[in-house]
Amino acid sequence: MIRACDVDDLPEGEAVRVLAHVPISVFHTEGEYYAIDDTCSHQDASLADGWVEGCFVECPLHAASFDLRTGKPTCLPAKRPVRTYPVVVSDGAIYVDTAVQEMTA
Ligand code: FES
Repeated sequence: MIRACDVDDLPEGEAVRVLAHVPISVFHTEGEYYAIDDTCSHQDASLADGWVEGCFVECPLHAASFDLRTGKPTCLPAKRPVRTYPVVVSDGAIYVDTAVQEMTA
């Protein structure tokens, strides 16, 4: 389990990047927290720097969109999903469970 930040430091619509075995971005949107691989599956761009709309993030480099719930791309140029990770909120802090990774084919 990796501590991402305090709940107060991640307002709705924002993202934070944390370093684990790979960079992971944690998003707060629509009242929920989501964690996915930070690096876009298309090329080398940080999804934490992307634009969040609902449960989707748009890559800042070529505008592929990923579903934060599943990691699946919803449009080109990305074709491969990114991994998702469980998020736990405890004692005012946000944690990412990096031991559990899911990759939706
Ligand atoms: S790097 Fe993300 S769409 Fe190209």
